[in-house]
Amino acid sequence: MKNSHDQADASLDGQLKPTRRRLLGWLVAGINLVVAGVVVGPVLGYVASPLRRKAKSEWVPVLDEAELPVGQTREASFVLRIRDGFAETDQKYSVFLHRTPDRVMAFDPACTHLGCRVKWMGDKDRYFCPCHGGVFNADGKVVSGPPPKPLEEYPVKVEDGRIWIQKKV
Ligand code: FES
Repeated sequence: MKNSHDQADASLDGQLKPTRRRLLGWLVAGINLVVAGVVVGPVLGYVASPLRRKAKSEWVPVLDEAELPVGQTREASFVLRIRDGFAETDQKYSVFLHRTPDRVMAFDPACTHLGCRVKWMGDKDRYFCPCHGGVFNADGKVVSGPPPKPLEEYPVKVEDGRIWIQKKV
């Protein structure tokens, strides 16, 4: 037989149980939110990082001015330190430089058709693409074949006796 004290406890349990259940529900929901934040936050940050990254460009010295006489075309290579997240790597690039009496032009060696690397044939005064026969003149314009547009041209400056190109990094 229950005494009056037991009856009071039972009645108190009945009042507290919903509150305790609600409190546990809030606690579980809070833990779920924290776990979701810890897991989903970095994933969203990683996925969105290319959108946040600003396109940057850098002036890079690629050749001494004296090494490119007027009327000549030659290839030069250079190294850029590329930062990707926490990793930094040195990447090697090349560029074709062509000098006219008025200015220096710099072209990306990637064919504008499907990206094969073009070759300079000095005796023909043309760039040839080995993949599908694209041909460009010394100014980078399409002469024949499937390339839809001229070779990509970099901005160039000549300063302190060196030829510089502006490259997106
Ligand atoms: S990739 Fe150069 S012609 Fe197709």
